[in-house]
Amino acid sequence: MANASGLISPSIQCIRRGNLSSRGIPLSRFCTVENFTRRVIRCRAVMGAEDLALGASPLRPPHPVLSGKGCKLVGCGSALPKILISNDDLAQIVDTSDEWISVRTGIRSRRILSEDETLTGLSVDASRKALEMAQVDPNDVDLILLCTSTPDDLFGSGPQIQKELGCKKNPLSFDIRAACSGFLLGLMTAGFYIRAGGFQNVLVIGADVLSRYVDWKDRGTCILFGDAAGAVVLQACDSEEDALLGFDVHSDGDGLRHLNAPIKDDHEENALRSNGAPVLPQSPSSYSCLQMNGKEVFRFAVRCVPQSIEVSLERAGLTCSNIDWLLLHQANQRIIDAVATRLDIPPEQVISNLSSYGNTSAVSIPLALDEAVRSGKVKAGNIVATAGFGAGLTWGSAIVKWG
Ligand code: ACO
Repeated sequence: MANASGLISPSIQCIRRGNLSSRGIPLSRFCTVENFTRRVIRCRAVMGAEDLALGASPLRPPHPVLSGKGCKLVGCGSALPKILISNDDLAQIVDTSDEWISVRTGIRSRRILSEDETLTGLSVDASRKALEMAQVDPNDVDLILLCTSTPDDLFGSGPQIQKELGCKKNPLSFDIRAACSGFLLGLMTAGFYIRAGGFQNVLVIGADVLSRYVDWKDRGTCILFGDAAGAVVLQACDSEEDALLGFDVHSDGDGLRHLNAPIKDDHEENALRSNGAPVLPQSPSSYSCLQMNGKEVFRFAVRCVPQSIEVSLERAGLTCSNIDWLLLHQANQRIIDAVATRLDIPPEQVISNLSSYGNTSAVSIPLALDEAVRSGKVKAGNIVATAGFGAGLTWGSAIVKWG
């Protein structure tokens, strides 16, 4: 893993080696500290969305110097909640219409979690399908990354997925929170764990239930989002087969004002001291509904996503003409079309399932990939340019090979 300064930290792997050793698992397949220190990623300068908008050239972090390992995408799966909400259904709740929503966004319906479903349950369903396609036994998974901004538990839901999948060897599992870029960052993180040594089968799950944080009275946002889960299995392989060909990732805290769901001031009863002052400070315990300046997020996406894909392509030594499929975070059809036009990628090479599911945040990329793979659209060896963008702000892209 790269730490905040961009340097690989040997301590993480050292701890893991210690844990494995104490659990009686042989260490031979894990890298040595000596190997680890050789794999150094140099620092990269931080550039915000605004800098990039002004035409500044993103500084190119050099590729990590890596071990001989590669990683490949060998399975995918997805799961949808039962309740389907059409645009006409929403028109009964807020002042909107099927025409407005479909023309402005491309969305026609979305799925919403019912009371007897959970994010963990959807994630487990999606993961089982991905593991089945990959022909990987749950006991052979050694890392589970749950990419979500809406876990069932504040402290994370990754370990619950590990438990419900019945992974008897206790793989490391934890959550990654990066909104609509979550899956892309999870995929990169999985690649680093595999390449940095030791991890063989990594399950990367995108799961989100934004319906929990949508203001159902705000027609500007409630029409956009849907719930779901999607998963992929990333597997260690020889470097010649490596499927993560190039990537580019960014974040910019200045953009928080455009898209956020801050912690909420709950004015609960508080015990008072004899002088009338409250014993405890106010302690907010829940989050506000999602707030978004749609126009600013739209501008940010059409500006930063094509730039990022161009950088990833350059790092992969490829050009747009090498791309078989463009698979963007499914936020708005107009964003997808604008990015495809800018990159000169024809509509028949653009994957979109937004009309059925809306913006499913960290799920949209694995969900669309799963549909495209299972329908036979994306075939083994195809090159997919993918990009995520959203709250944070965070954004990035990756050029990957399927299968
Ligand atoms: N139905 C009818 N009218 C509406 C609706 C609606 N659902 N929503 C807004 N309007 C009205 C507005 O009130 C406004 O009316 P006015 O002109 O009388 O003031 C008019 O339509 C235009 O509103 P805009 O907000 O300017 O509409 P816009 O064309 O920008 O579309 C949208 C809004 C769809 C939200 C668009 O800006 C968008 O998709 N932005 C990107 C969102 C995104 O990509 N998010 C991704 C990240 S999400 C995450 O990370 C969690």
